[in-house]
Amino acid sequence: MRAVWITKAGGPEVLEVRESADPRPARGEVRIAVHAAGLNFAEVMARQGLYPDAPKPPCVVGYEVAGVVDALGADVTGLAVGQRVLALVRFGGHADTVCAPAERVLPMPDDLGFTEGAALPVNYLTAYHMLFRVANLRPGARVLVHMAAGGVGIAVLQLCRTVPGVVTFGTASAAKHDVLREEGCTHPIDYRTEDYAARVRELTGGKGVDLVLDALGGRDWKRGLRLLRPVGQLIAYGFANASTGDRRSIRRLAGQLTGVPVLTPFGMMNRNHTVSGVNLGHLWDRSDLLREELAALLELWREGVVKPRVDAVFPFEEAAAAHRRISERRNIGKVVLIPSPGRDGQ
Ligand SMILES: NC(=O)c1ccc[n+]([C@@H]2O[C@H](COP(=O)([O-])OP(=O)(O)OC[C@H]3O[C@@H](n4cnc5c(N)ncnc54)[C@H](OP(=O)(O)O)[C@@H]3O)[C@@H](O)[C@H]2O)c1
Repeated sequence: MRAVWITKAGGPEVLEVRESADPRPARGEVRIAVHAAGLNFAEVMARQGLYPDAPKPPCVVGYEVAGVVDALGADVTGLAVGQRVLALVRFGGHADTVCAPAERVLPMPDDLGFTEGAALPVNYLTAYHMLFRVANLRPGARVLVHMAAGGVGIAVLQLCRTVPGVVTFGTASAAKHDVLREEGCTHPIDYRTEDYAARVRELTGGKGVDLVLDALGGRDWKRGLRLLRPVGQLIAYGFANASTGDRRSIRRLAGQLTGVPVLTPFGMMNRNHTVSGVNLGHLWDRSDLLREELAALLELWREGVVKPRVDAVFPFEEAAAAHRRISERRNIGKVVLIPSPGRDGQ
């Protein structure tokens, strides 16, 4: 099989396509011929050496694939060779062949393409889980979402539209604001040229918001907490501020770590605030939950309520360019990898 290896921590040049023997599905596993694999921010951080959950390099990362079942391990029921599927894998997804436990493999709707399919699981599960499991999004709520033009951000905007009267504030570079509006963002904010917290205060008449979805981390968590109204909630789900450009900067990382707010139950009680955390990669043992939420999302896809926005598709050989597209902040929506040109067909 062919896979994209992170040979060591570093810039995009450390990525290499390597050949190795095809894996054999163990008991309860399904082997999938991968047609498309999602590239996530976490995997860019893994390549930079900034993602503690990733395996030690040399390694193959990748959390999600779309493809066709090509072999079944013992005791697998309900799936068949030749079936088109989506799968969640805890690493190893940036390969043309992967084995995944059957419980994390779901049949794909016939008219969902592989590229779009690979753009769905991680981004939409994260957004759905935050909005509907952790936050219980209510009509009329005010929601601030950072990295709003990224894969998760667009999924959040699309899902917020399913609840009447939700007002969204999305931070992103100015060039992406038309797309944000198209995706339903009420107030796009250019965090590069204006103070987003001041802008949110101004737009809410000083009242603030009900929900902050913050994958920036560090000092932004502090700013987000100050924007919460009573009964407001901040969900921490990433630490993108640790990453800047192509390479790791220890100084920047330390600066952001010292900016992390210190919270006490008394402070939260007296302000009527909730702080929650979401890490999909640490929910792998809750396949029941992930399956239920992914099934709900596929239903929303069938109804036309959600539609992954694929920003760009790169063959494995161009994985470095795919990583750069994210670290240089050029993507709008999802970046997808395909094993070779032509392998992403329906
Ligand atoms: N906890 C979880 O389970 C979970 C799951 C999925 C994702 N996440 C986290 O959610 C965040 C968004 O993920 P995603 O996959 O949606 O991201 P993505 O699509 O890769 O978004 C990248 C965009 O984010 C913006 N950005 C802000 N700060 C950045 C930085 N320091 N470096 C590069 N880009 C930056 C840029 O857009 P602008 O120029 O418009 O700012 C960039 O184009 C990440 O922090 C990721 O780790 C967490």
